[in-house]
Amino acid sequence: MRNPTSSSSFSFATAAAQQQKRQPTAPVPLSEFGREMQAGLARRPRRISPKYFYDAAGSQLFDRICELPEYYPTRTELRILGECAGEIAGQIGPGAEIVEFGAGSLTKVRLLLDALESPRRYLPIDISGEHLEAAAERLKADYPQLVVQPIAADYTMPLVLPAPLGAGKRVGFFPGSTIGNFEPDEALAFLQLAARMLRGGGLLIGVDLVKDPDRLHAAYNDAQGVTAAFNLNLLRRANAELDTDFDIDGFAHAAFYNAPKQRIEMHLVSRRDQAVSLNGERFGFVEGETIHTEYSHKFTVEGLRALAVKAGFRPLAVWTDPERLFSVHWLAA
Ligand code: AVJ
Repeated sequence: MRNPTSSSSFSFATAAAQQQKRQPTAPVPLSEFGREMQAGLARRPRRISPKYFYDAAGSQLFDRICELPEYYPTRTELRILGECAGEIAGQIGPGAEIVEFGAGSLTKVRLLLDALESPRRYLPIDISGEHLEAAAERLKADYPQLVVQPIAADYTMPLVLPAPLGAGKRVGFFPGSTIGNFEPDEALAFLQLAARMLRGGGLLIGVDLVKDPDRLHAAYNDAQGVTAAFNLNLLRRANAELDTDFDIDGFAHAAFYNAPKQRIEMHLVSRRDQAVSLNGERFGFVEGETIHTEYSHKFTVEGLRALAVKAGFRPLAVWTDPERLFSVHWLAA
């Protein structure tokens, strides 16, 4: 097992450690990231899950993306949550229990908590336990009446929640259009799981909308190159944590809107013929060959509502910004 703290920086300083890692000829046991990288490089088309973007450096780059002038989703969703908080709170009612899927740094939920009538408990679920604990501590300090119980888990897997605390609704919160990362069948599976978990309550979900392709393209091809750095950080992370020797400059960021599939696709494109080794295995790339790193599906309001119905929800309300860039849905379970 690798030291988990080694994921927390670009870490050129560990060149000596890297050398040491390369010496043994017998393959070493791989982490989950390592196994998925190995499998992802062996298959065609090559791909790696976007969940590996988010080491400490990747999370920082993502925070910078959210501030970019071209990246409208974060600020638009925050605006909708802020302006419609009263109505949202009216739908949810008093004494609610909030379950957040992929909670991260717990900033968006504050808008919700501030608007709700005496929220009872908050259960943030995130795969990164350490990050979650720290964020939960800060939240507890600001909301002393709220019971905060972080759960370190993968929210795409079935999990048993603690018994309800009061008579309020159990409400799922899934902002940021993270649902767009899933393949369509995975999105349905997630919503079905959520509907089962939230029965009697509902799901508040933020979803990015289909729009002018130029606007979408710009959001994933920003002028400052932050999205490119975010995408390429995956290779840097692999070099830091795995026994890989990616030449970062040998790959280019590519993001484009696939209109028939209603999704942005992100890839890393090999700039030339080259080979990469992982744990004693060599993987050849020809010029132009790609590793697929992310889907970001876009929805119509009607499309999302139809998907929700299929998963067992009853869509009750939807809020959008005046430009209809982004949507927030209240789905009863
Ligand atoms: C966090 C998955 C919603 O798809 O827009 C931002 C991630 N990727 N820029 C998105 C992302 C490139 C983001 N999500």
